[in-house]
Amino acid sequence: MYIFKAGVVGAGAMGAEIAQVISYSGLPVVLKDVDQAMLDKGMARIRDIYQRRVDKGKMSAGEMQSKLDLITPTLTYDGFEDVDIVIEAVPEKMSIKQRVFAELDEICPEGTIFASNTSALSISEMAAATKRPAKVIGMHFFNPAHVMKLVEVIPGLDTSQETVDDVVMFAESLRKIPVVVQECPGFLVNRLLMPYLNEAVKALEEGAATAAEIDERMTAFGWPMGPFTLMDMLGLDICYDVGMYLYQEYGSRMEPAKLFAKLVQAGRLGEKSGAGFYGYGDQTDEPVKQFIKELQESGEVKTGTEFSEERLMMPMINEAVLCVTEHVANVNDIDMAMIAGTGMTYRGERMGPLQLADTLGLDYVLQKLEEFTAKYGERFRPARLLRTKVRAKHLGKKVGKGFLEYA
Ligand code: 3HC
Repeated sequence: MYIFKAGVVGAGAMGAEIAQVISYSGLPVVLKDVDQAMLDKGMARIRDIYQRRVDKGKMSAGEMQSKLDLITPTLTYDGFEDVDIVIEAVPEKMSIKQRVFAELDEICPEGTIFASNTSALSISEMAAATKRPAKVIGMHFFNPAHVMKLVEVIPGLDTSQETVDDVVMFAESLRKIPVVVQECPGFLVNRLLMPYLNEAVKALEEGAATAAEIDERMTAFGWPMGPFTLMDMLGLDICYDVGMYLYQEYGSRMEPAKLFAKLVQAGRLGEKSGAGFYGYGDQTDEPVKQFIKELQESGEVKTGTEFSEERLMMPMINEAVLCVTEHVANVNDIDMAMIAGTGMTYRGERMGPLQLADTLGLDYVLQKLEEFTAKYGERFRPARLLRTKVRAKHLGKKVGKGFLEYA
């Protein structure tokens, strides 16, 4: 099916950026929100993105206007009667997402694809609220959506192969890299990223290092942004919600660090609220230091632990191995998704977590995970496949065979 027109529901940061991406590809798009102020803010964000292209000499003012003319902001479902795909980017609450899809079911033609930009929630559960489960799919963009190349495409239990193929083609037409991921909580990238981010917060609240020190070390390691800068960009409320959902679904290895709840309750939601792990404008990070002191004094968190790059990387690698075991995606797709979704590199080379494990040596990774399990607990328990590989002497690059094969 060719997509001639799209709809986006929710004009927050992600919804607006997705609408910008669609208009940039030359397709008309209707952008709906329930709140005029949000809609105005979303349109201003889109205009800003285009304006920066004009300022950089990558686009003329006339081209910018013709792209902007492709976007119709609306507070109603007017214009959704003839869309071929709708992408919802409303708040991360299953009930809201189901309500939006149920409303759209009454307005859109039978053939319209319903895609969700959810960070973690079940596509199958959303599909159950519609009369077209074969047409419901996950289409997960990464922040900032107009920059990051990855789109995770997630079929639910009832999604048809035709819908998957259509959405893969659509994502390619948006100049994105689609990776099909089997449905599981957090899908692929958030499932791998959250344990890494969470471990950074644990190291911070345990006094192992400051946020700035950890950020500096992780950017030196090869990440485009340190974990705290990234979380402040994503929104701590979003990180916390995703974290709580993963904890509910996967159990104790995903238990969110205590500091998350404190910061969210205090309204420190990251860049968007002017304060998160860092302070912006006239805000400082003094309250964060105070929360950490309270957590330590009350005995709610450990103290005296150590920070190392490996402490953050090992949970991510381990989760990637679990994803291989569960066939969430194949080894190459897992690595590619992490590179295209988060920009991860190692020693100047684009490298995903499984190739990184091969590079470090799987015996070394196993040894580190065992060491961390003894020191910090069960969340580091090595994935069974890792042990099997080590026992079979598939130790990674140094022997030509690990998760990948090397000449
Ligand atoms: N917030 C929003 N946009 C930002 C930003 C921020 N904090 N920092 C940079 N950007 C935008 C810039 O405005 C610029 O946009 P433009 O092209 O329209 O001018 C663009 O990113 C590139 O910025 P720079 O030229 O300054 O380039 P950098 O080299 O500094 O790269 C980056 C910025 C692309 C954001 C890079 O740091 C990066 O790749 N960071 C990692 C981001 C990441 O991991 N995203 C995935 C998170 S997980 C997720 O989104 C899933 C969700 O479900 C939670």
